[in-house]
Amino acid sequence: MCIRERGKEKPDWLSRALARAGAMPQDEADAAIKAGRVTVNGRVATTPLTPVPPDAVIKVDGHPVRKGAPTHVLAFHKPAGVLTSTARQHRTGTVFELLLPQLPLELNRFTWHAVGRLDVDTTGLLLFTNDDKLVAHATSPETNLPKRYVATVFSTADDAKVEPLRQGMMLDDGPARPAMVRVRDEHTVEVILTEGRHHQVKRMLGAVGLPARALHREAVGDITLDDIPEGGFRLLTDEEVREKLNYSGRD
Ligand code: URA
Repeated sequence: MCIRERGKEKPDWLSRALARAGAMPQDEADAAIKAGRVTVNGRVATTPLTPVPPDAVIKVDGHPVRKGAPTHVLAFHKPAGVLTSTARQHRTGTVFELLLPQLPLELNRFTWHAVGRLDVDTTGLLLFTNDDKLVAHATSPETNLPKRYVATVFSTADDAKVEPLRQGMMLDDGPARPAMVRVRDEHTVEVILTEGRHHQVKRMLGAVGLPARALHREAVGDITLDDIPEGGFRLLTDEEVREKLNYSGRD
């Protein structure tokens, strides 16, 4: 098991390698290693931080671990009132508290990462993946992956008011890229961004006198929520990951 970063391969560490391979989630891997159940090249590993060279043979309870787990992506319909946390260990009140109990055994073995964040009161599409390279791909502004939001706004929206968002406006943490904006009706504004800074949609709308009363994400890339019920999820196909998220793999 190895990971490639900025063109060079470096050893992974054991508990993360087990989680990436889908052998078990990282917290369970930590426990298994501490219990002496895991070997690397025939030697019992004593710490979760044991380096794992690319060609190492890892066994759990004597059974070899198949390396190179495929990338999986889940589309989750986030309801309001739950936090987007990045660590499954901090589950209470978070998206993980809703998502993890629903996963079938074959998916629950992975360590899941949220792909970006939604505010606690924002609803809609939140992706999860076992592939941290996909997180970087989907959240990097360089990838230009569009994220489509729809905001319900307090005051009356029209094209003149949203024009600064289309032009690219200055926010307090720097310039925002020009956004695609459509006024669907006087209280409903669609905003498509290719970057994702903290509270970005709310700040952009707030700056033109259209504070958001509610915010919902409808799409990431060409993935849409479709009929996933609030709190529910579906597993994307490999083709969707490739074609609709423009992601071609870990390497
Ligand atoms: N922009 C926001 O303001 N909030 C979100 O949750 C996502 C994008």
